[in-house]
Amino acid sequence: MNINGQTKILGVLGYPIAHSLSPHIHQYLIEKFKLNLFYLPFKVHPDHFNLFIQGITHLNNFLGCNITVPFKRTIMKYTKVLSEEAKIIGAVNTLTIHNNNSYGYNTDVYGFQQSLKINFPSLKLKDKVVLMLGAGGASRAILYVLLKEKIKKIVILNRTESHGQALKKHFLRYVKQSEIIAMPHDFYYLSKSGLQPDLIINTTSVGLKKSDNLLLDLKTLKNKKIIVYDLIYNPPLTPLLHAAKKNHLTVMNGLDMLILQALNSFNLWTGINVEGDLLRHLNILRRICMKRYGRGNS
Ligand code: ATR
Repeated sequence: MNINGQTKILGVLGYPIAHSLSPHIHQYLIEKFKLNLFYLPFKVHPDHFNLFIQGITHLNNFLGCNITVPFKRTIMKYTKVLSEEAKIIGAVNTLTIHNNNSYGYNTDVYGFQQSLKINFPSLKLKDKVVLMLGAGGASRAILYVLLKEKIKKIVILNRTESHGQALKKHFLRYVKQSEIIAMPHDFYYLSKSGLQPDLIINTTSVGLKKSDNLLLDLKTLKNKKIIVYDLIYNPPLTPLLHAAKKNHLTVMNGLDMLILQALNSFNLWTGINVEGDLLRHLNILRRICMKRYGRGNS
């Protein structure tokens, strides 16, 4: 690491931010490609968010930043140009700054898409039935990808029914082939409805704590090919994934998505595309992130 007068700044903006793994991921990439960049965590109180964005937009050696909880939606109104995807999703997780203008992207789309492609190369989402838990910020990019891939049907279960309904309403205008259903969260939903989904995705924050409830009764699932995907990556095995494993279902946590969205953000800032050597970088970054578990996360 060699900071000098030409060093450009990258970072991640959130509140809180101490748990973020993004600095570890990007610092590895910066060093790997010998770039004169530095990636920092920025802890900004929501009351000062506006000032911070104004500041970085006018900082001529600021290249861009990741945006995380709770700012992924708020940032949109401060962003000069939004990508088509960010507009539809209604969330930005990556900002680039050029000539005092800000550009907003959502690289969770790439992260989610690629994580499925890499881990389940033969999976075709078209015509699949999906059960999604949660209707918060993290669910939006997921829903966007699923609908773009023309799944047959998605059932959204959410604690606050109105949030699920609002999400459904927002995306209905973009949907042609897929059926969207929004229901209040119910632990016994699968046995009551008889639904046999191909994919179950948890986008809620339930599972972050060891003491968290199991979200869903999986006992009625018959098809052992079902994939249970939890966007949480720390702990690596949430109560939901643990139960899924016990039921011999296929499980996946959110670590690959975290790393892959970071690689896409890095590409937007630097133009460097690691696609040709993706699996090697992914493996190294998995190890770097896993080493950090216990010391912090995200
Ligand atoms: P993120 O941006 O990480 O998605 P969020 O926008 O706060 O975070 O959304 C969190 C999601 O987890 C929401 O769907 C939330 O449900 P509500 O819409 O009812 O708030 C869900 N969630 C959080 N705590 C929960 C709990 N204890 N049980 C069930 N769902 C919960």
